[in-house]
Amino acid sequence: MNPTFTYQQDQLYIENVALADIARQYGTPCYVYSQAALTQAYREYADALSTRDNLICFAVKSNPNLSILALFAKLGAGFDIVSGGELQRVLAAGGEAGKVVFSGVGKSVAEMRLALEAGIHCFNVESAAELHRLNEVAGSMGKVAPVSFRVNPNVDAKTHPYISTGLKKSKFGVAYDDALALYREASRLPHLKITGIDCHIGSQLTEISPFVAAAEKVIQLVDALAKDGIHLEHIDFGGGLGIRYNEETPPAIADYAAALLQVMDKRKEKLILEPGRVMVGNAGVLLTTVEYLKPGEEKHFAIVDAAMNDLMRPALYDAYHQILPLRRKNIPSMSYEVVGPVCESGDFLGHDREMAVEQGDVLAVMSAGAYGMSMSSNYNTRPRAAEVLVDGSSVKLIREREKVNDLLAAEKIFL
Ligand code: LLP
Repeated sequence: MNPTFTYQQDQLYIENVALADIARQYGTPCYVYSQAALTQAYREYADALSTRDNLICFAVKSNPNLSILALFAKLGAGFDIVSGGELQRVLAAGGEAGKVVFSGVGKSVAEMRLALEAGIHCFNVESAAELHRLNEVAGSMGKVAPVSFRVNPNVDAKTHPYISTGLKKSKFGVAYDDALALYREASRLPHLKITGIDCHIGSQLTEISPFVAAAEKVIQLVDALAKDGIHLEHIDFGGGLGIRYNEETPPAIADYAAALLQVMDKRKEKLILEPGRVMVGNAGVLLTTVEYLKPGEEKHFAIVDAAMNDLMRPALYDAYHQILPLRRKNIPSMSYEVVGPVCESGDFLGHDREMAVEQGDVLAVMSAGAYGMSMSSNYNTRPRAAEVLVDGSSVKLIREREKVNDLLAAEKIFL
């Protein structure tokens, strides 16, 4: 793949556009995505799985912008959702309900109704209580709900504990040892149709082995179910493939897919995957302007106009994102704490970054396309950033910068 972000005459470009031009036109903070990179990631998945029946369900939570969903829908993707809101986004973006899988431990009655009305592909059920609620809701609507259990294979994903989901102590999925009994129970409920099985063991995995271990355990269950007369139409191995933020060496999409195909061998079930981060993470950056340089006794600070409310990952997970200047300058460099204006010591985007920058310069926080905008908030009454999509030389504003008035609009004064 051609690199999406390149320096040309000391200016950082996204595809054919200087990021500085985007910062000038739309202001900062601003998320910018490359359509070519998004398309490429999807195609790599599609190509790798082309030898068999498959459905690539983009994990909406990683980047739910309507244009991004519309792009993936056009490319043929399905979607992994975790709320009724995400389903409404998918439908608004032109996605097909029949290609949607619905994950999550806390589906409400209203969300179940919405999804049944729309006709989604499958509910990934995460508890016995949810199973019974779904049966009742479907019955009350005169419908039959397609059901898969999210099984917890008790595999260590070896990733950050906050984004590791496949261990016994995790709130996600049903216990591996309970799965057979639950499938039998489901098969007796009149308003459910068992269609599949799924697992998701965590996010930002940089090794293939935990995926294979989980997949093998899932397949063992599928075989045990078949012996019991319960035959599945699909097997969903979730998402979780990591990307390179810094020094990580995650497997290539093709190698990851090949390992899973090997586990699937000649099986006939449809293979579903739920990739999020790997589809969007390295396709996007967050542009931010240096408001002030503030020398300190022990540390020097570059105070920028993006903050933890715009990109929460450093504050929440101590995550590393590369930070690059939009223009390379021939001035002395210094080590900076790159921090935002939010009133919390945890409000940082990067520690100890060697940079040659001046007040007013614009920086690109790299690899910000996944779980960036989607986890942003209005903390400190900060309107959320604009979002821009670049396709070759064409630049489109895909989300306007919020205005403070938007934030105040829902509130009432009673005094
Ligand atoms: N499927 C399910 C059921 C999930 O819970 C997730 C992510 C995915 C698929 C997509 O996983 P991915 O391919 O993106 O790794 N906010 C964190 C990541 C949280 C992931 C939550 N679940 C971060 O910024 O690192």
